Amino acid sequence: MLGIYVFIKHMILLEAKPVSDQIRSKLLEKSAVFLQKTGRKPKIVVVLVGADAASVVYTDAKQKKAKEVGFSSEILKFPESATSIEVAAAVQKLNEDPTVDGILIQRPLPKNFREDDVLYWVHPQKDVDGFHPENVGKLPLGLPCLKACTPSGVMVLLDHYGITLESKEVLVIGRSSIVGKPLAALALAQNATLIHAHSKTKDLARWVSTADIVIAAVGKPHFISASQFKSGATAIDVGIHRTHLAGGPKLIGDIDPQGAESHLRAMSPVPGGVGPMTIIMLLVNTLISAEFREGRRAKLDTPIRSVLEN
Ligand code: GUN
Repeated sequence: MLGIYVFIKHMILLEAKPVSDQIRSKLLEKSAVFLQKTGRKPKIVVVLVGADAASVVYTDAKQKKAKEVGFSSEILKFPESATSIEVAAAVQKLNEDPTVDGILIQRPLPKNFREDDVLYWVHPQKDVDGFHPENVGKLPLGLPCLKACTPSGVMVLLDHYGITLESKEVLVIGRSSIVGKPLAALALAQNATLIHAHSKTKDLARWVSTADIVIAAVGKPHFISASQFKSGATAIDVGIHRTHLAGGPKLIGDIDPQGAESHLRAMSPVPGGVGPMTIIMLLVNTLISAEFREGRRAKLDTPIRSVLEN
């Protein structure tokens, strides 16, 4: 009798929850020890200019999550009409305040703010976003630094699920300063063979079809499809877009997941993949900065492996 074998492949869903739960419980433990030893809580201040609806939601979420792990958290609000001189002066005060460990200036800012100036406002040692040119520059040099939260979150997510980058062909799509470029540096630091694609790349489909790991940070809904990938590849979706397609509001990523389940080794979902990793890494950076500033940590460096284990 002929046996019928049904070969079912199980794609690993790279969900943030198990990783973020683990890191959150370490943050709680560490912030309690910090309070006991220093008499204060690690503190993050979020600077919000104007009332952009999404920014209000994000800053409230950051404050809530910070408090949940025993941090002190404040939102410093300015009206849309605030001048860049006023906001820069307030940030300078925060830079000088010894009880503040992390400062984040929520983007987008009103049009009268020049990003090229704003990048320098937060002191590099309190730059929990990892956006200051000093931190951005240290990253590809392999020097200890506060690393941008989304790229470091991607690496922590891959590490948690045992997906290594060493000698793999890793395709990063997108070259923004805060996601694509730091991702490329982090992949190289882990000995990946890096292919860095962008809007001017010719025949992107060719690169997509051969890569072992594809990290899409393009900012365009369903820009590529999982079915274009090499069989057994890993897909990381950094995109997050609100859509009303297919009945009702929904969040979708840069990668169309159709067909992924039977074709890929692993994929990060949207929502619930890279997104929650960004906020957890922001909290990690705040704790690292607090411990460093109190002389309880030798290096100011965002950990990628064994986050907060020591
Ligand atoms: N706006 C949306 N995401 C972010 C972020 O991670 N950092 C800052 N500063 N602004 C944002």
